[in-house]
Amino acid sequence: MAIVPKILVFAGSIRTGAYSGKTADCAQKELALQGADVTRISLADYPLPIMDQDLEKAEGVPANAVALARLFVAHDAILIATPEYNGSIPPLLKNAIDWVSRVRSDGGVPLNPYPGKLVALCSSSNGHFAGIRCINHLRAVLSHIQMEVISPQVSVPNGSEAFDENGEFKEERLRKGMARLCGALIERATLLSTRVEP
Ligand SMILES: Cc1cc2nc3c(=O)[nH]c(=O)nc-3n(C[C@H](O)[C@H](O)[C@H](O)COP(=O)(O)O)c2cc1C
Repeated sequence: MAIVPKILVFAGSIRTGAYSGKTADCAQKELALQGADVTRISLADYPLPIMDQDLEKAEGVPANAVALARLFVAHDAILIATPEYNGSIPPLLKNAIDWVSRVRSDGGVPLNPYPGKLVALCSSSNGHFAGIRCINHLRAVLSHIQMEVISPQVSVPNGSEAFDENGEFKEERLRKGMARLCGALIERATLLSTRVEP
């Protein structure tokens, strides 16, 4: 029986009406349409303090970082839709990545959420560059922590005009790009299933 890949989707912004949230919505719908078992989360539900090693030493890794690590491990792949701040990764997303990188165990059981985990990236912005500078930085960071970042990506320019009233991309180019990205992620996640059921 073919495996149904479990894919975790989230955006790097918790702003009301965020273009990255709308891009994540499109990814979520397309992945489900193509047969994946999708979990959608918001980083708003996993608040984390700014990474501080004194805090980590005094209090340990926050429970929300461990909860995110558990989710990463329980899925075959992750799709992140990120905004771009000053040509790079927004602090909400980088902070979450950094805290999760400090998780080593969960109740004494080793937990190593990143190495080998498949990840696909989308970016968006309200400008013409579509967050492309951020996605390049994010790709480098995630590769550094040994995630398997797939090559296809979707970058959405002019966010305020990119979506119709149903939340779909207006441009066919973006709809096709998202379908290709989701297809590639599902194909690889099916071949390389790495999830560990809780
Ligand atoms: C601190 C900050 C820096 C930003 N830098 C960039 C940038 O470098 N490039 C860009 O295209 N947009 C930039 N923007 C504008 C964002 O693209 C815009 O606010 C977008 O709506 C944020 O993403 P979201 O809609 O997913 O929340 C910046 C916004 C903020 C708040």
